[in-house]
Amino acid sequence: MKIDVLTLFPEMFVPVQTSMLGRAEEKGILEITLTDIREFSNNKHRKTDDYPFGGGGGMVMMPDPIFGALEHIGAKGKKILYMSPRGKVLDQDKVMELAGLDELVILCGHYEGVDQRVLDYWEAEEVSIGDYVLTGGELPAMVLIDSVARLLPGVLGNEDSAMQESIYSGLLEYPQYTQPREYRGMQVPEVLLNGNHKLIEEWKFKQSLLITRERRPDLFEAFIRDRESFTKAEKKIIDEILQD
Ligand code: ADE
Repeated sequence: MKIDVLTLFPEMFVPVQTSMLGRAEEKGILEITLTDIREFSNNKHRKTDDYPFGGGGGMVMMPDPIFGALEHIGAKGKKILYMSPRGKVLDQDKVMELAGLDELVILCGHYEGVDQRVLDYWEAEEVSIGDYVLTGGELPAMVLIDSVARLLPGVLGNEDSAMQESIYSGLLEYPQYTQPREYRGMQVPEVLLNGNHKLIEEWKFKQSLLITRERRPDLFEAFIRDRESFTKAEKKIIDEILQD
């Protein structure tokens, strides 16, 4: 997958060039190209923003440098995202949709945002990463890139990719334990140590349900309501929980 990022701060993007994503780039699964919007400013001071018409606080990014950058990378016809707290909040369904694309362009705004004509002309889709406001679109862009890249075939190990398809999708994860079996007097749940895979799977499913019901009742309700079919064992566990 090829991702073009347009930003005033290309040097911020170290995190998506290291670790798993760095390896994905080495393997040729992912290609991230950073384009500095400032390079496309025709202003002698390389200015990219100005005061908003109609007043109001802050500065607005001017259209010309952004148009120049988008034209330079050949963005016409590609999916263009604009990271903005005004966008629809990113969720895993959206991440999966984006992971199916071959090419993606991400525009990062700063200050009070970009001139609306950029978004209208380029038909950019606004995407938020949550209901809070950050100083710019760079961190949100990296969040989006990370969430999309981990779904690309070959980026994660087999185990992890299997997890994505697990029956637990739509629920929060069950608690995990590793060595040692006892740590400062705290024990690993017995069921995980006895090698009975059926009991282990049931325990994991029940824990996922309990955690989801407690922390995200919205997801819990949706899981119970929308799942097409449950196995007998799953039904039994769900009924147990609903009776608590
Ligand atoms: N830019 C500033 N805040 C943002 C947010 N919450 N999501 C996406 N882009 C942003």
